[in-house]
Amino acid sequence: MLNDNTKLLGNPLVQFMMLTSPKLLKNFPYFDKIFHAAIKNSNNVTEFLDHQIAEHRKRFSVEGEPEEATNYVQAFLMEMNKREKNGDVGNFTIKQLLDMCNDLWNAGQETTATTTNFGILYIMTHPVTQQKIQAEIDRVVGSERKVSLNDRPNLPYTNAVCNETQRLCNLLPQNLLHRTTKDIFINGYKIKKGTSIVPQISCVLFDQKTFPNPETFEPERFLDETGKLKRVDEFIPFSIRPSDPNQTLEKINGLAVQPPPFKCNVERRIPIIH
Ligand code: HEM
Repeated sequence: MLNDNTKLLGNPLVQFMMLTSPKLLKNFPYFDKIFHAAIKNSNNVTEFLDHQIAEHRKRFSVEGEPEEATNYVQAFLMEMNKREKNGDVGNFTIKQLLDMCNDLWNAGQETTATTTNFGILYIMTHPVTQQKIQAEIDRVVGSERKVSLNDRPNLPYTNAVCNETQRLCNLLPQNLLHRTTKDIFINGYKIKKGTSIVPQISCVLFDQKTFPNPETFEPERFLDETGKLKRVDEFIPFSIRPSDPNQTLEKINGLAVQPPPFKCNVERRIPIIH
C-alpha cells in the first residue's frame, strides 16, 4: 500500500497536478484516472490505520489498559483516556492520532525503508564497499553483540556509506512545497513574499563542485585524509528548513523515488543475538 502510494504520488502527472491545480486538472481526461487512483490508495492507508486504532481501542475495552504501553498508539490512547477523565483532551484526539500515524507511516516508514533498499542495492553492486563495512563492523563491534548508537563515532566508513546512500538515492528529488515568508532575491531574481516554492535538494546533492562525479557511489567523499567522517554542509537529504514546532506536519506526501525491484541473497554469518 505504501509502496503504491509512493509510486502514485511520485508520478510526474500527479506532481504536475499538485504543483498547479489539482482541483481543476482532476476533471481532465488523462489526469482523472491517476488522480483518483492516488486518492483511493491514500484513503486505503488511512482506512488501514483507522482500523488498527479501532482494534487497539476494542482491546482496551475488553482487557483494560496495560500497565505500560508497548507501542505508540497504545501510549497515545492511554494519555487521551487519562485526559478525557480530567475533562481536557487538548490535542489528544482520534483525528490527531490518525494524522500522527499517517505522518509516521508515510513520512517515516516509507522513507527509511526505501533508503535502506537503495543502500542494500548499492552495497550489492559494490562488493569492495561491502567488504570494508564488514571489516569495520567486525573490528569495532565483533560478533558477540548487536551494533548500537554508541558505536556510531567509531564506524566512520559505515557512516560514510550511509551518507553516500542518502546523497545518491536522492530520495525526495522534488521536495515538499513551501512558501516564502518575505521578499527574497536569488541570483538577482526577486521572489515575492507568499510565493509557492519547491526547494530542489537534488541540485545541492548532485553539485559537481562539492561532489565530483556526483552520479557515482563513492562513500570515501565523506571521509577526510585520516579516515575520519567529514562534515559536509551540502549534505542535506532532509532539506535545510529550520524546524518549527508550531508548523503542521500534515502536508508530507512522499514524492519519493524507489529502486527497481531486485533480488538479494542474505546469508547468516553468526547466530542470532538477542
Ligand atoms: C531517510 C529518511 C528520511 C528522509 C530522506 C526524509 C526527508 C524529508 C524531507 C526532504 C522533508 C521535507 C523537508 C522540507 O519540507 O523542507 C521531510 C519532511 C518530513 N519528514 Fe522526513 N525524511 C526521512 C525520514 C523521516 C522519519 C523517520 C520521519 C518520522 C518519524 C519523518 C517525518 C517527516 C515529516 C512529518 C515531515 C513533514 C514536516 C512538515 O511538513 O513540517 N521523516 N522529510
